[in-house]
Amino acid sequence: MTNKNKNVPTKIQSTVQCFSEINRCIHEFKLTDLIPAKVYEFKIFSGRNELTENKKFKTLPESATELTFIDGGDLSTSEAAFKLMQKASTFNPDFVLLGGDIVYDNGEIDNVGLWDTWLSHWERAMTTKDGHMIPIIAAIGNHEVKGGWHKEPRDSTLFLKFFRQEGDQTYFLRKLSRLGILMILDSGHIKTHDSQIPWIKKTLTESTSVPLKMIAYHVPLFPSVRSSNDPWVSEGKKYWPKVFEENGADVVFEHHDHALKRTHPIKDNKVHPSGVIYLGDGCMGKSPRDVKKEWYLAQAKSIEHFWLGKLTKGELYLKAIGANGEVFDEVRIKTKTR
Ligand SMILES: [Fe+2]
Repeated sequence: MTNKNKNVPTKIQSTVQCFSEINRCIHEFKLTDLIPAKVYEFKIFSGRNELTENKKFKTLPESATELTFIDGGDLSTSEAAFKLMQKASTFNPDFVLLGGDIVYDNGEIDNVGLWDTWLSHWERAMTTKDGHMIPIIAAIGNHEVKGGWHKEPRDSTLFLKFFRQEGDQTYFLRKLSRLGILMILDSGHIKTHDSQIPWIKKTLTESTSVPLKMIAYHVPLFPSVRSSNDPWVSEGKKYWPKVFEENGADVVFEHHDHALKRTHPIKDNKVHPSGVIYLGDGCMGKSPRDVKKEWYLAQAKSIEHFWLGKLTKGELYLKAIGANGEVFDEVRIKTKTR
């Protein structure tokens, strides 16, 4: 690997884990002490054989004045997902937040080929105009787990092998320069909603000086399609909204329903100007479903899209965008001066 500014090549040995059941070896490279706002180039070798051409990525600046990101969920290996990825890459995002149900492997080993296809789609579609790879931050969905709900890490047969984001832990924090934080949660697949509450409270209260606190997970608490009586919606709603409201969360990204939605700000299960806004609902490749009418929905459309976020010091500007660049919705959320 080469730091472009210092131009000193460094060799990094991977940690390899081979899984005979999926006929794959997964190589993990831990990169530490990276310099903010730098371009790194690398090639992958097996012995002396070059496995890749030159690739590069860019680290986030330490004190960025603007960050661009994409949110989408419920993708699959469809042509629609590929086209949405291609469009998303044209905005040069600093990272992409994937909200679960990525390839629909259902934790079945026989579906490993879906990952081969999807990863090759990602490699072809998701490169910025400058040729940088685009980092993924991924939440787990029910279709990443055999059985879907209240299971063990071993039931996420493929996802947790490919995405070692925090080992087997499916909830974790990412700091977004000095502009905000992003908390990834598990909506009941490997970890229960209530078991994550102490960590959610601790993380939010420790981030009081952060201008914007974002949360993302798979199953919505305020769905645009399915019934609010759905057992997994009800379980999330029983435990989480109050924790978000009382500890200063600003924006929440939800998925799973295959539609576009934006809620009014919600507090105490009512529309409230200082409430939390929920955006979703995961339709970045799967066919859209019909939306319902609910008191909390400010916008709901049955349409394929992704969310484009521009985070600056004063605001988060979000647009829901289609594969041809159509803008289906937009919202500006003021960040807090803390
Ligand atoms: Fe789902």
